[in-house]
Amino acid sequence: MKNVAVVGASGAVGERMIRLLEEREFPLASIKFLASERSAGKTVTFRGEKHTVRKLEKGEFEGVDIVLSSTPGGVSLEWSPIAAAAGAVVVDNSSAFRMDPTVPLVVPEVNPQDVAKNRGIIANPNCSTIQMVVALKPLHDAFKVKRVVVSTYQSASGAGQKGIDEYEAQARAFGRGEPVPSPAKFAHPIFNNCLPHIDDFLPNGYTKEEIKMVNETRKILGDDSIDVVPTCVRVPVSYSHSESILVETESPVSADAARALWAKAPGVTVVDDPTAKRYPLAASAEGRDDVFVGRIRNDLKNPNALLFWCVSDNLRKGAATNAVQIAEVLLKLEPARA
Ligand SMILES: NC(=O)c1ccc[n+]([C@@H]2O[C@H](COP(=O)([O-])OP(=O)(O)OC[C@H]3O[C@@H](n4cnc5c(N)ncnc54)[C@H](OP(=O)(O)O)[C@@H]3O)[C@@H](O)[C@H]2O)c1
Repeated sequence: MKNVAVVGASGAVGERMIRLLEEREFPLASIKFLASERSAGKTVTFRGEKHTVRKLEKGEFEGVDIVLSSTPGGVSLEWSPIAAAAGAVVVDNSSAFRMDPTVPLVVPEVNPQDVAKNRGIIANPNCSTIQMVVALKPLHDAFKVKRVVVSTYQSASGAGQKGIDEYEAQARAFGRGEPVPSPAKFAHPIFNNCLPHIDDFLPNGYTKEEIKMVNETRKILGDDSIDVVPTCVRVPVSYSHSESILVETESPVSADAARALWAKAPGVTVVDDPTAKRYPLAASAEGRDDVFVGRIRNDLKNPNALLFWCVSDNLRKGAATNAVQIAEVLLKLEPARA
């Protein structure tokens, strides 16, 4: 039984973490919910009981064993080390610690063994990376992945509650025949649009989101030789990210062999019957925990390449589910600091 704190409890990811702790019957001695002073005093219902959201402050981590944190990077940078110093293990959803060589970056279907290396902080990867590496892992084990060309179709909720609110307000205004409200969270209106722009641009022309996919994939799969070629796009969808992926492998790969591997891979569901109009869809993945793969097909020329479509709920497997799964791995570690 663990004493748990959910930090960022009022956010899009925090809300899902709370539901997942309920659904997965996480063994709890106590639980508390923290956020900024904006949400302090609001109420959260957990396992039928009402809890008050508290302001994140020093002293809140006394006696806490596990912290599930989903705050902006700057807040995590300041507070996750404070929680770790107080004796907790922090599962941090932000990008603040992901590439820190002393911090494990974990997807439980891929590298659960890295959880044991934690020194008080474990990083949860970026949502678009998590779903891709869950699908790549069985291919990497069987055929060795050399190069991945990925284009993402990322939902508005990837930008948090404000992203969801902005997209839905624009869609509602359009439905009423009113002018679409000006963008604030996104650079352009997300309604009726596709934005090839997620996070800031870097001098090399890529965005930070794209470079996260490059670096995090290598770290999680433990192979710096993998080439990742990403283009990240925000699309007018509320929940779930979709990805078109071309993977090149060292040994020959085939759609049939990949389908067979994915059929028994943890966390993967194959939805691949195009003649019956069955393939992974963002709307069907919403609220689910799996990574869905379909449109699995051989490259027309290259026997060492495969194409597929990959969809997952970014707030669940892309964030909250992955974090709670990491906490479940922590529970099994004896006598590690969990
Ligand atoms: N959305 C996704 O798909 C996704 C996926 C993977 C990782 N992540 C990462 O997870 C983190 C949270 O994302 P989100 O989408 O849940 O964002 P969000 O909906 O904007 O929620 C942010 C949360 O952080 C809290 N917070 C902000 N400033 C704070 C402060 N100074 N002190 C304490 N709490 C503070 C907010 O509390 P208030 O309500 O009080 O402001 C809110 O609970 C980010 O680092 C994001 O990059 C998101």
